[in-house]
Amino acid sequence: MKKPSVNGERLIESLETMARIGATEKGGVCRLAGTTEDGDARNLFVDWAKKANCDVAVDQVGNLFCQRRGRHPELSPVILGSHLDSQPTGGKYDGAFGVLAALEVIRALNDSNIETDRPIEAVSWTNEEGSRFPPAMMGSAVFTGALKLSDALSAKDLDGCTLQQSLDQIGYAGSMPCGNKPAHAYFEAHIEQGPILEAESKIIGVVEGIQGIRWFDCTLVGEEAHAGPTPMPARRDALSGAAHLVQQIEAIANDHEPNGRTTVGQFQVFPNSRNVIPGRVCFTVDMRHPDPNSLVSMKDSLQAQFKLTCEKTKLEGKLEEIWYSPPTHFEQTCIEDVEHAALLHQYSNMRIISGAGHDAKYMAEVCPTAMIFIPCKDGLSHNELEDAADDHLIAGAQVLLEVALTKAMETE
Ligand code: GLV
Ligand code: MN
Ligand code: MN
Repeated sequence: MKKPSVNGERLIESLETMARIGATEKGGVCRLAGTTEDGDARNLFVDWAKKANCDVAVDQVGNLFCQRRGRHPELSPVILGSHLDSQPTGGKYDGAFGVLAALEVIRALNDSNIETDRPIEAVSWTNEEGSRFPPAMMGSAVFTGALKLSDALSAKDLDGCTLQQSLDQIGYAGSMPCGNKPAHAYFEAHIEQGPILEAESKIIGVVEGIQGIRWFDCTLVGEEAHAGPTPMPARRDALSGAAHLVQQIEAIANDHEPNGRTTVGQFQVFPNSRNVIPGRVCFTVDMRHPDPNSLVSMKDSLQAQFKLTCEKTKLEGKLEEIWYSPPTHFEQTCIEDVEHAALLHQYSNMRIISGAGHDAKYMAEVCPTAMIFIPCKDGLSHNELEDAADDHLIAGAQVLLEVALTKAMETE
């Protein structure tokens, strides 16, 4: 048997070609879930997968599975993948690397004429980012039963368009029932999106788990009034109250150093007119920590600060937790498989916990799962300037190939 090896040039070229879809001026991509650009990226992936002799299937939430057949079709597949959607000012590797590394695994196995016992599937999950339709990791959540299909399909963007409508528009509202099949194992390759591997000069991050995430929607309501005649003490300015609360939210993360994180990333002011005192503001809170108890204490602090702000500023409002993703621990043998593969190729490596959420989080609930990280330049991601070295991308794909092959040869 010829030892399979990824074709580095082909992988990099595929990543560059994919990055032209939704390309932004500064070298990133904008491919929000369910947009034309998301549709075009999916079409390209399907085209490549069909040329690699894969069977393509789309489920009801739009998850896209490209299967390379195995010797035993009755055995559950080894699934590899990530996502093709992006943030509005996203990087070209966040998600796309994991999907195209999975495709490269299939292409490399084809080149070597290797027949695996189990099928291997490259998957692109729907709406991992959750930027247009909250919450994040939606496709994998529905696939694994963590989220109801109807809740996902009825999620709305800020203009009131539902995920269902957007999938219809791009032709990816599939017919296959969600989660209709067991998986033998799941592996996801991804850029780290943080500074650790680069700082430690390691090529491969052996990912042991993912930190916990809480998402909140917050609304503060005051009273619209004229910016000129209304005396300062008479005002109930929702934006001014929100500004105070945003500072308190940042302090919550600082009180939970070094691992606490809080972010207010989306903010709307009503009526958003320069000479009207804002009567209402809506904003989001993203809160993260690897320790579940710390996440409880951070949530308690947020609720207390919200109440205090409302009292002090004579505002009313609502603070609603819309999503909780507890910390995840990956499966030991999968973690070790990744570590062995890195050692086999003499790639420097270290164990790491993911700061970002990934579809692997939900897959870990239904099958043995682990992730492979590679460094990203200056630790920068969710930014158009996100970058990664070709050698690292190729190394990550090679590790993915090794672990996929190991698992796809297991008949039990
Ligand atoms: C996904 O990109 C996340 O928010 O971690
Ligand atoms: Mn991602
Ligand atoms: Mn992302």
